[in-house]
Amino acid sequence: MAHDPLADQVQAAAPPPHTVALRVNGEQRTVEVQSWVTLLDLLRERLRLTGTKKGCDHGQCGACTVLVDGRRINSCLALAVMQEGADITTVEGLPALAGCTGDALHPLQQAFIDHDAFQCGYCTPGQLCSAVGLMNEGGVRHVGDIRERMSGNLCRCGAYPQIVQAVAELALPQQGKEAP
Ligand code: FES
Ligand code: FES
Repeated sequence: MAHDPLADQVQAAAPPPHTVALRVNGEQRTVEVQSWVTLLDLLRERLRLTGTKKGCDHGQCGACTVLVDGRRINSCLALAVMQEGADITTVEGLPALAGCTGDALHPLQQAFIDHDAFQCGYCTPGQLCSAVGLMNEGGVRHVGDIRERMSGNLCRCGAYPQIVQAVAELALPQQGKEAP
């Protein structure tokens, strides 16, 4: 390949990367990242955790939702350098979060299967992480709360009734069977 002096200049002009130490799905990781890299790109491109999806990349669809210290965030809006010391859980880490071993699924993942709560599945990792975050927040009184507080997670396939039903099974065990 021909030598490209311009590429060398761009490389030389790039600021030095930052070292970030964080836990991802229970594993301690130390990464070198540029200041502009999002948590989403760190997870997908660097750590190869491609379960987390990039939909809009602008904080509008929720496909990129992950848990940071138990709280749900849109990882496309968070910079990786801000995650020093954070405990990140992606969809790949949900079973372990629930204490599952082997191939066992997180109970919410099983509920999504039982209620047929996905079609193409692109939004599903974000829906799952968001619902776990919702349950961590507590205070879910009825299915209206689930609809309202999951409204940041869009589903192009329109599987909303089944998603609400699956989440209700865990968040509202008394009402989950009747939820639409
Ligand atoms: S990809 Fe992050 S909100 Fe859409
Ligand atoms: S299942 Fe296809 S976008 Fe939700």
